[in-house]
Amino acid sequence: MEDSYIIKGGKKLSGEVKLSGAKNAALKMIIASLLFDEKVVLENIPRINDVIELLHLIKSLGAKVDFVDKNQVEIDPTSLNQNKVDLLHASKIRVSFMLFAPLLHKFGSCFVPNPGGCRIGARPIDRIVEGMKSLGVEIRYISRTGFYEAKMPDKPRGIFRFSKPSHTGTELLIMLSVFGKDKIVLENCANEPEIDNLISFLNQSGARIVKENSLIEIDGVEKLKFKEPFKIIPDRNEAVTYICLALATGGSISLKNLLLENITIFVEKLKQAGVKIKTSNNGIFFSRGKSLQSVNIETTPHPGFMTDWQPNWAVLMTQAQGKSTVNERVFENRFSYVSELKKLGAKIRFLEKKVENPKDFYYFNYVRGKKYNQVIEIDGPVSLHGGALNIADLRAGASLATAALVADGESVVNGVSILERGYEDFVEKVRNLGGEIKKI
Ligand code: EPU
Repeated sequence: MEDSYIIKGGKKLSGEVKLSGAKNAALKMIIASLLFDEKVVLENIPRINDVIELLHLIKSLGAKVDFVDKNQVEIDPTSLNQNKVDLLHASKIRVSFMLFAPLLHKFGSCFVPNPGGCRIGARPIDRIVEGMKSLGVEIRYISRTGFYEAKMPDKPRGIFRFSKPSHTGTELLIMLSVFGKDKIVLENCANEPEIDNLISFLNQSGARIVKENSLIEIDGVEKLKFKEPFKIIPDRNEAVTYICLALATGGSISLKNLLLENITIFVEKLKQAGVKIKTSNNGIFFSRGKSLQSVNIETTPHPGFMTDWQPNWAVLMTQAQGKSTVNERVFENRFSYVSELKKLGAKIRFLEKKVENPKDFYYFNYVRGKKYNQVIEIDGPVSLHGGALNIADLRAGASLATAALVADGESVVNGVSILERGYEDFVEKVRNLGGEIKKI
């Protein structure tokens, strides 16, 4: 299988990119379509590896689902006939645990494998399971089989407060609460725009969900009714990747369909770094100012600086004047790219940071006594040179490809199927900006 890129870097990349639909909205919208008892059509679904895996998984449950056009997916949930999620398919895609919602609504009980850890952290679902229990779901984990067994109550109801926000947790509890006669209240929810997109889809279909900041109130309805094809929002993580990629190479970029309000804090940081931003009818244009300045960032959930953006930002900062820091608060293992960037000559080191109250400060489940590396310091500007790089996780993958495009000479980036889990037409889009990249 072709799983590497050969990249010849050192050229300024400039031009226009049309953003694909957001991965982290599309996956949830496909799962939410299983809540209907009729055919649903979704538009602007990116053809990425994660979506393709999810479609396989859903087919294995008996539903009919396929791309009917480049970015249009049709889902017919009426033939759904399995309430046990296949372990092999589920292990390939983390959002598989979100299938609790449609399967519990449809069958009253289900078996879903533990999504387990992944390379960016332990990623437990303890808060989510706690939320399901407080809505009345009977759920237990059978360690012998590695599956959760869950049973839907006759009448889901209640109030649940997340101890710390969870993006997919919020979405799963919303989907679990759409039907019924009682009101369900969710507090301290996550605020990502992809969650708003899911709510718009469900409300367009008759659900009654009101969200005000981190408070969500859901009045149950009897059924969802498909009205018209629903269009997924453009991918803000993809936008950030291409902005950092073009600027890091010294080029400029125009994004036509970017929703600027979804990346406000990122734009603020760009301005602090001296980046010029112009909005016109042709889109939003980003170019370097007189010089690129170093800027520190700290990741937090939306509306803060997203954890998904920090690997791209770190590469950009290798080209900025001065020292900058990245403080990762959301996941405990999001610096897999650091050792790889050092192979290209980047000057990055881990810093010890004393935190007053780490259990509150970090969004992952902090374990006292365990060693964490949550802060890096980057020196800039440095000339990067080519090398052989290995991708460990999706966003790290985009940052390594970016670094290879900045670096003088040839690089090999291995494990690109991980990058392509989340980026549609990456090779074509980079080529359109003038990048020399080939998949082998
Ligand atoms: N957490 C727990 N227990 C839980 C739930 C979360 O400890 O029950 C921890 C997580 O391990 C993490 C923190 O809480 O340390 C925040 O996790 P959250 O649940 O918000 O993240 P997620 O829903 O698993 C989604 C995106 C991620 C994105 C984060 C943050 C999807 C499919 N994934 O993950 O996207 O980084 O929210 O916004 O929507 C990516 O696209 O590459 C990606 C990793």
